Amino acid sequence: MKNEIEKNWDEMSKAYENFTEDEESYSYTIEWPCIKKILPNLQGKRILDLGCGTGRFDFLFEKENPISMLGLDISEEMLDIAKEKSVNRNSKVEFIKGDISNFNTYIDEKFDFIFSSTVFHYISDLKGLFNNIYNALNEKGICIVSVMNPVYTAQYPIDKNGKFPSDDEWIVKYLDKSKRAYIQPWIEYNDKIKDFLSTSYHHTFGDYLNAIISAGLKIERVEEPYPPEKWKQNNYGRYNSFIETPSYMILKLSK
Ligand SMILES: C[S@@+](CC[C@H](N)C(=O)[O-])C[C@H]1O[C@@H](n2cnc3c(N)ncnc32)[C@H](O)[C@@H]1O
Repeated sequence: MKNEIEKNWDEMSKAYENFTEDEESYSYTIEWPCIKKILPNLQGKRILDLGCGTGRFDFLFEKENPISMLGLDISEEMLDIAKEKSVNRNSKVEFIKGDISNFNTYIDEKFDFIFSSTVFHYISDLKGLFNNIYNALNEKGICIVSVMNPVYTAQYPIDKNGKFPSDDEWIVKYLDKSKRAYIQPWIEYNDKIKDFLSTSYHHTFGDYLNAIISAGLKIERVEEPYPPEKWKQNNYGRYNSFIETPSYMILKLSK
């Protein structure tokens, strides 16, 4: 049976694809340029993408000539979009349905580069996940994890047993670790679906850092990318909302 998060992502897949493939999307204008700056050499490397969604990053990594790429995601509908794009691009990326919380139970190979973007707030056990990443990395392996910035997830409304939150419930509740339930702001990118609640967790900076330290991973970089300067002129509201509440924290880790 599908869990709540899987059902959510199946329903949101098309809205997410339209939202992220917009060339002015936060991801392409803010997240990707920052990841690109700290990306290791991927030529001839084995890559694992945890929570690959529609495969966006795998297709970008493929341009660097890795030897293999494996994308895991829990949502069939997200993977269907990824697979369709893969055929159109004649891509070599392999996409598999699976829960990343326990990927070690069904994948036993090692990787040179493990990547994940905006997925870890759906995972309750961060320590277990970083342990599994440590074990799946080759000796000189690198991991880049882009997470929703804890300042951002801190403002997600607390889950009230499925009740829809009001707009004024988007306020920072940083040390409250309760489950969160909210309407994704970008759901309007597919007007065919009705508003519905997404659920996720809120992890603090301490939660991330302690899970990484416990796993024995070394922190190489911590990036909190800025929005582009041009938004200051042509979309000040958008620029300023990102300065107030950043969406990303990007961690580069090594073994
Ligand atoms: C915000 S999307 C990010 C997708 C992709 N990484 C990207 O940046 O476009 C979150 C993705 O995480 C996936 N996901 C959530 N929980 C998961 C889990 N436990 N195991 C595997 N995938 C999961 C969802 O299905 C969804 O595709």
